[in-house]
Amino acid sequence: MSGPCITGKARLAGVIGQPVSHSLSPVLHNYWLARHGIDGAYVPLCVAPEAFETAIRGLQAAGFRGANVTIPHKEAAFAIADEVDPMARIAGSVNTLVFREDGTIHGASTDGFGYIASLQVEGVAPPALAARGPALLLGAGGAARSIAVSLLEQGIAVRLANRTAARAAELAASITAAWTKHAGQSGADVTVCSWDSWEEELGGISLLVNTTSLGMEGGPNPAWKPDLSRAGSDLVVSDIVYVPRETPLLRSAAAHGLRTVGGLGMLLHQARPGFRAWFGADVEVDEATVRHVLA
Ligand code: ATR
Repeated sequence: MSGPCITGKARLAGVIGQPVSHSLSPVLHNYWLARHGIDGAYVPLCVAPEAFETAIRGLQAAGFRGANVTIPHKEAAFAIADEVDPMARIAGSVNTLVFREDGTIHGASTDGFGYIASLQVEGVAPPALAARGPALLLGAGGAARSIAVSLLEQGIAVRLANRTAARAAELAASITAAWTKHAGQSGADVTVCSWDSWEEELGGISLLVNTTSLGMEGGPNPAWKPDLSRAGSDLVVSDIVYVPRETPLLRSAAAHGLRTVGGLGMLLHQARPGFRAWFGADVEVDEATVRHVLA
């Protein structure tokens, strides 16, 4: 593949965060730009919280098409958007900003889309999961929130287990409130279970999702040993940790003969809606993309 071709007409976008040097988004978007022969560039933008609004207005003035937003700006991005999609409204956070020609800003939350797409490309159909039982999510941070809402949208009931029980209860309550208020739905099917006994729940669930940093290289417990012996044979096990690609949870699932879905797919698929909005092309997440991002 030839190198990037950036002319005076190049379309511009970037990722705003602090820190942002670890982000894989520039590698991913610039790879897709080169692969599709698009005259454009995607740059890392390290911006302090107090400078966020100034930076956004500056990017708009400079003709950027928009930006991805990462830690710690996702709530500020929600606040600055003139309108947001339903997922962002329920999540209360935005990871994709699109600057429109009329000067308004559209905000989207694409993590949930990325998660569901990562299941689908592995042949896991959400309606089949919904029919088999609830999903069990480990963790109660921002990732758990996006994934929980996207599962509810697919008709899949959600159970939450978190080390700090109060955070799981708060997350369940706030998702229920936001779901009822913004999505025009009746109650959200979100319940909480104990962190100490989540492994005992496995018999009745269709999907297990780790949204904590357990098992992550350099994380709090890279040698985590989850016990999946109570799982039914059709349990699908997924992990949003992607370093290493074979996490302790996925290794344990594979040892029990269970279907697994790794975390890299969510990371790559969540980038597709932004790329489409800024650069005008539908992009694919294939093995070549994965190899390039991990290289
Ligand atoms: P994110 O927004 O990326 O989801 P986060 O808000 O920091 O990140 O959430 C991290 C999750 O990992 C939390 O659910 C956290 O549990 P607590 O709420 O109890 O802190 C969970 N987590 C982190 N380290 C953990 C550990 N050693 N054991 C169990 N859970 C852990």
